[in-house]
Amino acid sequence: MADTYDVIVIGAGPGGYVCAIRAAQLGMKVACVEKRATLGGTCLNIGCIPSKAMLQSSEDFTAAAHRFADHGILIDGIKLDLARMQARKGEVVAANVKGVEFLFRKHKIDWLRGEGRITGPGTVEVDGTAYATRHIVVATGSESVPLPGVEVDEKRIVTSTGGLELDRVPEHLVVIGGGYIGLELGSVWLRLGAKVTVVEFLDRLVPTMDGEVAKTFARILGKQGMTFRLGTKVTGARTGNDGVTLTVEPAAGGTAEELRADVVLVAIGRRAYTENLGLDAVGVATDARGRVRTDGHYATNVPGIWAIGDVIDGPMLAHKAEEEGIAVAERIAGQAGHVNYGVIPGVVYTWPEVASIGRTEEELKAAGVAYKAGRFPFTANGRARAMGDTDGFVKILADATTDEILGAHIIGPDAGTLIAEIATAMEFRASSEDVARTCHAHPSLNEAVKEAALAVEDRAIHI
Ligand code: FAD
Ligand code: NAI
Repeated sequence: MADTYDVIVIGAGPGGYVCAIRAAQLGMKVACVEKRATLGGTCLNIGCIPSKAMLQSSEDFTAAAHRFADHGILIDGIKLDLARMQARKGEVVAANVKGVEFLFRKHKIDWLRGEGRITGPGTVEVDGTAYATRHIVVATGSESVPLPGVEVDEKRIVTSTGGLELDRVPEHLVVIGGGYIGLELGSVWLRLGAKVTVVEFLDRLVPTMDGEVAKTFARILGKQGMTFRLGTKVTGARTGNDGVTLTVEPAAGGTAEELRADVVLVAIGRRAYTENLGLDAVGVATDARGRVRTDGHYATNVPGIWAIGDVIDGPMLAHKAEEEGIAVAERIAGQAGHVNYGVIPGVVYTWPEVASIGRTEEELKAAGVAYKAGRFPFTANGRARAMGDTDGFVKILADATTDEILGAHIIGPDAGTLIAEIATAMEFRASSEDVARTCHAHPSLNEAVKEAALAVEDRAIHI
């Protein structure tokens, strides 16, 4: 047996690496197993960070090409250097993953390079070498869900991984799935000049988000040039020299037709990843969707084995995984770490951004909760006007009796940053009046949040 640890974390994504750091802070001897050549997991290598780098670059490109003129800035002959844009994205990723390596060294966390396999409750084997440990944390993340009949080759039919690496702007990109990945990466290639068609099974986009926001989102993306085929399913794909031919038909059944694309992005969701992990051998229970079952406090049914992040139940978001990483390390140390699942923001980083926290109107109606809603449009916000970004609105939902904020939904400039104010307010169980009576700087986008809070009692000032 090689070294002995207090905790071995399997997977160095946002769940795993944050857990390793917190456990080390709490005085434990920690190792983290990662089979990828770099630390940071899906998020830093092929997810959150490279997608946001491409979203930023493509937004800057589109602003220079189409929006600067409104500000009186005239540039002739704007050209795209996609190779440089991709190289910059690589530099951003490299800096981030090196940052995690630095943090591991700082906290004396051993990186066990290779594939980890649990061979017993207190044993992890990494490429043939066995390590003993008191606790194992499974943080192996997720992978994209395949679509039967649409074979991914990461060149013409791609997942988000290939969709972030294209070396040419496709003439026609067909995106299957109108969720987070489809709309973010669809936006990237639309801005860079592709025709983009989104094929979505349901009759709406971003199904986990508020319906009113989703409708506005579809209208704004439509204005930007994105085309939607809602209520439509893809039943097959044929790849030839001139691209891909998809067969599509109405989701409810009906006449099939063909849709030609240069590149097809499959983005119909992600699923827990536990391949070769040895869960069966040690008897760790999983659910019908292959996710590791926990007791709600990250303990699996096998003592000493814990699980966090995308591999367990809940939204597949990096910040959710990070919070669980901290909570599980604290639980292992005998503390009371926990995550407030009612207050986890979700953000789609398109332009405008879409951000959501707490309950949607649909959820409140279905649960029979009496609520009040306050809305405020960005057209009435001075800063948004100065920026030239007036699309969208803020909506705050509060309990009809107690006025406690139950949810907030924002579509508009920097919505992902604005939602943090509501997250803090909800964490403190604030009322809409608490936010409404808080002094907000002028002129700021945050004033739209305050005005929406005022609107809950029908006393917004600027509408
Ligand atoms: P992961 O980040 O998936 O990390 C798991 C790691 O475990 C991987 O590195 C894997 O190699 C390793 N591993 C697996 N099995 C083994 C084994 N047996 N041995 C050793 N190593 C192993 N979320 C957001 O919150 N914001 C965003 O903007 C965002 N953008 C995204 C964009 C894209 C294109 C994608 C695909 C995802 C995005 N996400 C975003 C989701 C986010 O990436 C995940 O929620 C997050 O990475 C989950 O973290 P995790 O630690 O659970 O797993
Ligand atoms: P998603 O769950 O967000 O969206 C998938 C979409 O595909 C849904 O609208 C669904 O109705 C649709 N769909 C499912 N099957 C279909 C089919 N056969 N044909 C057509 N449409 C179909 O999943 P996505 O976009 O793949 O992203 C996976 C996860 O990664 C997200 O749920 C999110 O948790 C995370 N992510 C987060 C981001 C962020 O925080 N900004 C960005 C990207 C990903």
